[in-house]
Amino acid sequence: MGAGIAQVAARAGYEVVMRDVAQEFLSRGMTAIDKSLQRDVDKDRLSTDEKGAILARIRTTTDVGAVSDAFIVVEAATEDLKIKSEVFRTLDEVTQPDAILASNTSSISITKLGAVTRRPDKVIGMHFMNPVPVMKLVEVIRGAATSDETYGRTRTLAEKLGKMPLECQDSPGFISNRVLMPMINEAICALYEGVATRESIDGIMRLGMNHPMGPLALADFIGLDVCLAIMNVLHDGFGDSKYRPCPLLKRYVDAGWLGKKTGRGFYEY
Ligand code: 3HC
Repeated sequence: MGAGIAQVAARAGYEVVMRDVAQEFLSRGMTAIDKSLQRDVDKDRLSTDEKGAILARIRTTTDVGAVSDAFIVVEAATEDLKIKSEVFRTLDEVTQPDAILASNTSSISITKLGAVTRRPDKVIGMHFMNPVPVMKLVEVIRGAATSDETYGRTRTLAEKLGKMPLECQDSPGFISNRVLMPMINEAICALYEGVATRESIDGIMRLGMNHPMGPLALADFIGLDVCLAIMNVLHDGFGDSKYRPCPLLKRYVDAGWLGKKTGRGFYEY
């Protein structure tokens, strides 16, 4: 998702530093951006020169110090509190004191991430949806200490990126994943119980509810490890058994069948 966020920011005219832990992830990200922009070139919605200019506005690096002049950093690391906390501690050290530190987390507490920094008032959730260039929403999440100024600046930035910011408070899964993920989990349970085939479950939701993708295909698209991590956050956060991750979801993650990104999930790719 980091690549998608870098793409929309560069397309909106911002100079972007895209930082990752290894060069191979950066190369993969740039390939995805190139492919995504090329769709628009092929459809005559973007010229080749404009595409080149967008790509030129994205600098890739493995050095976290390269973001030291940024007015905002959008973190999109693995969905793991420990990893994200470490990233936020580092960002707090290396960035300017007035920079906003935003997280693209799917469900981890913004309040907790803010608390590991010396600027919890400037920590906020900026939750983009996949595929980032296509989806209109940015869910903007306010932690316990997020200031009105930080919220206002983040909102304005989301609008400049061509997105619709919608606000919510910090609560497990926020709104998007609190509503979406139990539906996906329920579809997995129905498959597990043999109530219907994967095609039938997805077809029912596509044709009957006009969802662009069925829940099992969507789970593969999001990543089954991400789905499981979000269900665990809901389960732990609310302490309610209705959020119990389906055993089949756990089994697929244990097997390394994480969906589209590994070539196998509920479908084969
Ligand atoms: N980059 C740029 N454009 C893309 C793209 C990409 N990666 N993927 C698709 N598109 C564009 C296509 O060019 C096309 O544009 P056009 O209609 O203007 O010509 C349009 O999107 C539709 O694409 P396709 O015709 O190739 O395919 P579909 O019609 O099947 O749409 C989809 C693909 C947009 C992914 C659609 O299936 C969809 O909306 N699926 C649901 C996505 C969703 O629910 N996302 C949220 C996931 S949850 C999340 O991200 C939160 C996290 O915390 C878990």
